[in-house]
Amino acid sequence: MDSNNSIVVLKEVTKQFRYQGSVVSALSGVSFSLSKGTTVAITGMTGSGKTTLLNIIGALEKPTSGEVWVDGVPVHTLADRKLVDYRRSKVGFVFQLYNLLPGLSALENVELPLELGGLGAKPRRERARRCLELVGFPPERYRHRSNYLSGGEQQRVAIARALTNDPPIILADEPTGDLDPETSQQIMRLLQGLARDQDKTIMLVTHSDTIAAWADTRLRINQGTTERY
Ligand SMILES: Nc1ncnc2c1ncn2[C@@H]1O[C@H](COP(=O)(O)OP(=O)(O)OP(=O)(O)O)[C@@H](O)[C@H]1O
Ligand SMILES: [Mg+2]
Repeated sequence: MDSNNSIVVLKEVTKQFRYQGSVVSALSGVSFSLSKGTTVAITGMTGSGKTTLLNIIGALEKPTSGEVWVDGVPVHTLADRKLVDYRRSKVGFVFQLYNLLPGLSALENVELPLELGGLGAKPRRERARRCLELVGFPPERYRHRSNYLSGGEQQRVAIARALTNDPPIILADEPTGDLDPETSQQIMRLLQGLARDQDKTIMLVTHSDTIAAWADTRLRINQGTTERY
C-alpha cells in the first residue's frame, strides 16, 4: 500500500513497559498502513498488545521507538501540550463498557466532549443530535438517562460521542464484547456504514472471529508483531 494515501502508518513501533523492576515487551516492531474509510479488526491472544496498539495510535501511550503517522501528523514527535489537540481532532474512542456517565441523558453524554471543547449550548446540542442520528439512536430516548438504556443503545451513544469532533479515526476496544450476537451485528453494520458513508477509518479490537470477518482488513498481533490474514 502506498503510505502517501494512508491515514494510519506505523513504522517499526515498539513498546516496553517497566513493571516492578522488570521490562515487559508489549510490541516489538509493528509496521502497517491503513487506508481511509476502511474497517480493521485487531485480533490476538489476551496480553498480546491490542489495547497498547490502540492507545499508541490514540496517543494515550507513547511508543518506546518507531514512528506513528496519523492523517499526516507525526504523532511520535508531538510534545505533550500538543497531544490534547491531536486526540480531540483526530481520534474518537469507543470502549467495551461504553464509559457513559450514568446520571446524564443520552444527549448530554454526547454533548459532553463538545462542552469540554468550549462549544456553545446551541451548536453543541445540534451537533450531538446529528451524531445520535448518524448512529440510528431513537429520538424518543435522547432524554433517557444512560444507565436506563440497553447495552446496544449505550454502545450507540458511545459511538455517537466518539463522532462529535468528526475525527477521521475511530478506535474501538472490544466494542461488541458485552453484547449478544444479534446486537453485535447491528453495531458492526453501523461501524461499516460510518466507514463507507462518512469515510471513517475504524480500528476495532475483537476476540470474535465472526466480528473479525465483518472487517475489511484483519491484523493479528502475535509475539509483538502484526500480520494481515
Ligand atoms: N501500564 C502497563 N504497565 C505494565 N505492563 C503493561 C501495562 N499495560 C500493558 N502492559 C502489559 O503489556 C502487554 C500487552 O497488554 P495489552 O493490554 O495491550 O493486551 P491486550 O491484547 O489488550 O489484552 P486483552 O485481550 O486481555 O485486553 C501485557 O503483557 C500487559 O501486562
Ligand atoms: Mg485489551
